[in-house]
Amino acid sequence: MKGIILSGGSGTRLQPLTKVTSKQLLPVYDKPMIMYPLQTLLSAGIKDILIIVAPYHAGDYLNLLGSGKEFGARFAYEVQDKPEGLAQAFIIGENFIENDNVCMILGDNIFEDNVSETIKNFKSGGHIFAKKVSDPERFGQVKFDASMNAVEIAEKPEIKISDYAITGLYLYDSQVVEAAKAVKPSARGELEITELHNFYLQKGQLKVDVLKGEWIDAGTFESLFKAGELARKKNATIT
Ligand code: DAU
Repeated sequence: MKGIILSGGSGTRLQPLTKVTSKQLLPVYDKPMIMYPLQTLLSAGIKDILIIVAPYHAGDYLNLLGSGKEFGARFAYEVQDKPEGLAQAFIIGENFIENDNVCMILGDNIFEDNVSETIKNFKSGGHIFAKKVSDPERFGQVKFDASMNAVEIAEKPEIKISDYAITGLYLYDSQVVEAAKAVKPSARGELEITELHNFYLQKGQLKVDVLKGEWIDAGTFESLFKAGELARKKNATIT
């Protein structure tokens, strides 16, 4: 299993903080934000990790994370020139992924649940994680039937289909590379990750787990503040 941390984007919603550094390097309590998703991958035993960054502040990632030796892992880096969508990570990462399974996590997503066993046990297809939220309009959404089988997935639909948000942690087999190449840019000009979920959903190969603990996408001032509070409160368990 290979790991990818997607840590690009321009972080415009967090200006002026993101004028001086990358969003995913901002402090969340006692460490830079990216250290939390990194720990999620390391805890699952993933040793080969590709870190995809934007051109701005790219050197700061090397300063912070280096070769990976300090973490008992190997880190590779790629620059995403423009934020053209989450699914593009699998095109950028094609040579890195080879024929392996891949676990991608967003550099601004913080998970309280321990998903190590699910990651370790992943064999094939796709496996994503949902969380019931009060603000589903901010996210990709997944609708379940009465037996909690995923039946529909949409990226920030105008009329909400569900209160379950799709979180930024994705397990896919190596089919994902060709699937990502087939994705066409959406109305907002991005290669949407939800297209990849739908690729697996339509084949009957997508599993969706509902998370029990807290999950934070720290991309707004409010959620960044909450992430700091969660990290402070749970310091012993999510470090
Ligand atoms: O946080 C979970 C949500 O992330 C999902 O529910 C959505 O399905 C997914 O599209 C995504 O939505 P966001 O609106 O939060 O995406 P955002 O543009 O904020 O990007 C998420 C992170 O990925 C952010 O830290 C920046 C980074 N990013 C984004 C894009 C578009 C990149 O590194 N490259 C990109 O091209």
